[in-house]
Amino acid sequence: MRTKICDMLEIRYPIIQGAMGWIATAELVSAVSNAGGLGIISPLTDRGIKEEIKKTKDLTKNPFGVNLPIWSPNAKEIVEEVVKERVSVVTASGGNPKKFTSTLKKEGINVMQVVTKVEHAKRAEDAGVDAIIMMGAEAGGLVGGDEITTFTLVPSAVDAVKIPVIAAGGIADARGFLAALMLGAQGVQIGTRFIATEECIAHKNFKNAIIDARDDSTTVIGKDTLPARVIKNDFSTKMEAIFDMDGVRSALMDGDIKNGVMLCGQTAGMIKEIKKVKDVINDIITDGKKIISDFDM
Ligand SMILES: Cc1cc2nc3c(=O)[nH]c(=O)nc-3n(C[C@H](O)[C@H](O)[C@H](O)COP(=O)(O)O)c2cc1C
Repeated sequence: MRTKICDMLEIRYPIIQGAMGWIATAELVSAVSNAGGLGIISPLTDRGIKEEIKKTKDLTKNPFGVNLPIWSPNAKEIVEEVVKERVSVVTASGGNPKKFTSTLKKEGINVMQVVTKVEHAKRAEDAGVDAIIMMGAEAGGLVGGDEITTFTLVPSAVDAVKIPVIAAGGIADARGFLAALMLGAQGVQIGTRFIATEECIAHKNFKNAIIDARDDSTTVIGKDTLPARVIKNDFSTKMEAIFDMDGVRSALMDGDIKNGVMLCGQTAGMIKEIKKVKDVINDIITDGKKIISDFDM
């Protein structure tokens, strides 16, 4: 189950844990990296970037990454911290890839840009990034305004760029993992499935809402402004419902599943139990191998 991405990132399995504001902390990140995937720290946590990097280094000797929200007023400080701490990879999202890519590349840091349409993938390739993370509309969090799904986005991007493509959005188990590789992806980025794990610090109400969710439990709010996929609740039905970081925090950290902004992907409908991170990753690999060996070709 090795791909080009494994060599590039020096990881065992081509499975990346997507950055998630408030909850992609050292606990989750180190568990993913220790299990052979790549954990990604979110700089938007209660502890803050410096502490998260320090704690992650205490908990794993394996590579991990940091998310760079390009739009953030603190983006420059995040870049400085990543360079100072010699973090090996950055996933950049929400902004122009030209802004920081050359600075990071000069320092020998791998840059992977999260995008939601092919035009933006080409733009990121032109800016010199090492890989593209193509995120389909099934994903939790901020989604592309055109709501293009992973199944069409990934092969379109693979045809359009020369650098490796990683699939994100809608992947929760071995089936989605293998499907992504068949579509031409060199790896996957997973968010929602990693929330429903023992190591993730998300509030238990939030984790239970994922376990209880069905295929039709999520919706996209802020379609004309800042589209974000959330679990439906009292908040999401309001006309003026729009993504805001405080609302996200109250859902994820305080467990306000009624009025919080419950960023979550469609895979919530497939997730039936809270697992250890190690088991999420091992199950993807073991079940994946079995699916392949069952094919009679
Ligand atoms: C609660 C939550 C918060 C997220 N926050 C961020 C973020 O801060 N930066 C980012 O680049 N992506 C963010 N994402 C997107 C994930 O990194 C990942 O790409 C996405 O969850 C993949 O789709 P999936 O949920 O279907 O697995 C977030 C997703 C969720 C569910």
